[in-house]
Amino acid sequence: IQYRRGFLTSATEAPEIAFAFDIDGVLLRSSKPIPGASDALRTLQERAIPFILLTNGGGKHETERVAEISEKLNISLDPSVIIQSHTPFAELVNGAFGQEALENKTILVAGGDGDSCRLVAERYGFKSVVTPGDILNAYPGIWPFAKNFQDYYKSFARPLPRPIDPTDPSRSLKIDAMLVFNDPRDWGLDAQIIIDILLSNQGIMGTLSDKNGKSDLPNRGYQQDGQPPLYFSNPDLWWAASYHLPRLGQGGFREALEGTWAAVTGGPAQGVELIKTVVGKPYALTYRFAENQLLRNRSKTFDSEGLPPIRNVFMIGDNPESDIRGANTYKSDHGSKWHSILVRTGVYRGGTPAYEPTTIAEDVKHAVEWALQISK
Ligand code: G3P
Ligand code: MG
Repeated sequence: IQYRRGFLTSATEAPEIAFAFDIDGVLLRSSKPIPGASDALRTLQERAIPFILLTNGGGKHETERVAEISEKLNISLDPSVIIQSHTPFAELVNGAFGQEALENKTILVAGGDGDSCRLVAERYGFKSVVTPGDILNAYPGIWPFAKNFQDYYKSFARPLPRPIDPTDPSRSLKIDAMLVFNDPRDWGLDAQIIIDILLSNQGIMGTLSDKNGKSDLPNRGYQQDGQPPLYFSNPDLWWAASYHLPRLGQGGFREALEGTWAAVTGGPAQGVELIKTVVGKPYALTYRFAENQLLRNRSKTFDSEGLPPIRNVFMIGDNPESDIRGANTYKSDHGSKWHSILVRTGVYRGGTPAYEPTTIAEDVKHAVEWALQISK
């Protein structure tokens, strides 16, 4: 598991500090390790200092992503150490975020390569998962510009649980919730399908909202009771990939969708908001979810619930908007003080960051050294 038990003497010596590491731009650039990343994690493992990997990335199951990172950084990591953008979505299976249980409802899962996010959703426990690729494969005319990608979608599409039948909505495919698990690969198709569902009557594909009979509402796009909720898992407008300049992330897709939604419906000017829930860093829901996982892991490692509290958590990130802002604003339920360390190996490229970190470090190795030094 995460720590070699041989180093652990007793729970009373459980360290009272912990770390949260962002991944892209801190530990890796796409799949390339950032120098010093392995040493940084190994130093903490040798001192039995708990840490989690807290990323707005995703697209694979936690076990698969951790196995990849373990291999890239040549370090043994337990799957419980990672919180991805969509990890909190697993709570929606039995009901969360004020949402009824979705286990047996039909959900649209968008984003990621091929079928990967559907497979993750099914491993979380969702029983009826549809992807935009399934819908396109069944109805190629739903997005006329995807002809060149038909073979790609055919390679993983599954038959729809119900047809899209505008002549008989009672037997037509009904989507109960939409979850954007990871960065969409085909913004056009995914935006078209999501907007079709938002414009629909109660999520029944192929229909248009009846606006609950309220004639004074805009002709299209009225959000109504029973409208399928829309969840995004990551607000990042930019992220650090292998290219030397930051790349547009899931936040870019959401902004494009919101722009199209406003054009289609008149948007906020017409009183038609895009009703959505966004999780991921910098939001407190994600930091709270991460802190609780960190504490569970720590109790498991020391085989004890009666550990001294963690006094300081050091969040090391490359994106001021998500990593620094989130750590700076998160109010721990367990009395821990979260500190933010901004590194220069990712999105942040110098100058005054939009959100002031506790400190700025060259890279993750220097960041960990700084934190250990002030924790003496
Ligand atoms: O899609 C991944 C990207 O949005 C950022 O990932 O690890 O820097 O939070 P990370
Ligand atoms: Mg990052």
